Amino acid sequence: MSTASGPIYEVGDLVIDLYAGNVSVRAVDGVSFAIHPGETVAIVGESGSGKTVMTLGPLGLLPEGVTVDIRGRAQSGGQDLLTLGPRRLSELRGRSFGVVFQDPISALNPMKRVGPQLAAQARRLTGATGREARQAALDLLKRTGIPDPDDRYFRYPHEMSGGMLQRVMIALALAGKPKVLIADEPTTALDATVQAQILELIRQLQREDGIAVLLITHDIGVVSRVADRVIVLYAGRIAEEGPAFEVLTAPIHPYTIGLLDSVPDLRKSIGEPRQGIPGVPPDQSMLVPGCRFAERCPKVEPRCRTHRPPLDQVRGRAVVQRVACPPQLRALREMADA
Ligand SMILES: Nc1ncnc2c1ncn2[C@@H]1O[C@H](COP(=O)(O)OP(=O)(O)OP(=O)(O)O)[C@@H](O)[C@H]1O
Ligand SMILES: [Mg+2]
Repeated sequence: MSTASGPIYEVGDLVIDLYAGNVSVRAVDGVSFAIHPGETVAIVGESGSGKTVMTLGPLGLLPEGVTVDIRGRAQSGGQDLLTLGPRRLSELRGRSFGVVFQDPISALNPMKRVGPQLAAQARRLTGATGREARQAALDLLKRTGIPDPDDRYFRYPHEMSGGMLQRVMIALALAGKPKVLIADEPTTALDATVQAQILELIRQLQREDGIAVLLITHDIGVVSRVADRVIVLYAGRIAEEGPAFEVLTAPIHPYTIGLLDSVPDLRKSIGEPRQGIPGVPPDQSMLVPGCRFAERCPKVEPRCRTHRPPLDQVRGRAVVQRVACPPQLRALREMADA
């Protein structure tokens, strides 16, 4: 993995408020991160922590029916997505970003055969002729390992299995030759074998094309298998971020520790009891001054409830790991000094 060329996508101080009816939610609350070509960054966190809104919001892909107020920066290829009008954004999105949605069936038209849908996408995004686009669609189906692609080209979505549809979704996301692939829970609905195949497919495509992958997942096992780095999101903020190995084997934020403790096999090997996290995530319609995890945190101190914890770099580790927990960072420093 080379990071010499700088990030392909960089998000800074991203804040996303959603308004639906008379409810408003701060779904993303000051998030910054970067992803480099060839890198896989996993985004983990409980349901509702803002994984989907944070990744799809800057691309203008949030569901209709909500009003979105989005601030900060989201830069790719020298442009800030947040400053582009809908048409320019749609162009940049097609050329630079491919998205595999959480619900594959919603992204396909059930009334149309999958091959022609793929060809239409390739034609729209790359300006290929009809003939070129048909060939590109067939090539994409082949690349994603769909058996008998010449036959599958003419099938309708409902004639395909979940794993097959997910491959079509990945083909669709690759149709514009993106530089960043965003995969939102791409394997959640699939059984374990198919899940492993889809993840391997994403890895393989990544190795071939050097694209960056932002992988949203609930599944810590998936993170440990495929991610270079991991971002742990809690209630719209980054709790901890760093290389997957360090974060998974030596987590520092109490939320990450709790999250990993609720995974059966991962921590057993290093002798930790399995616990899970008591309590429920906070109501994000209420803006709190301090740490959003304070109510559930075993390490909470009075200051945590009044001051937002900065996302500070962990000193003394050879890698860049950032943690938003002053008490834990202080404890680490004290241990190192002792
Ligand atoms: N269409 C919507 N209308 C209103 N609020 C929404 C909508 N979509 C998301 N939200 C809110 O935004 C916040 C972040 O949601 P998001 O969907 O990004 O979470 P997530 O981490 O992707 O969860 P999951 O793992 O369940 O997919 C949540 O508090 C959620 O209630
Ligand atoms: Mg989601």
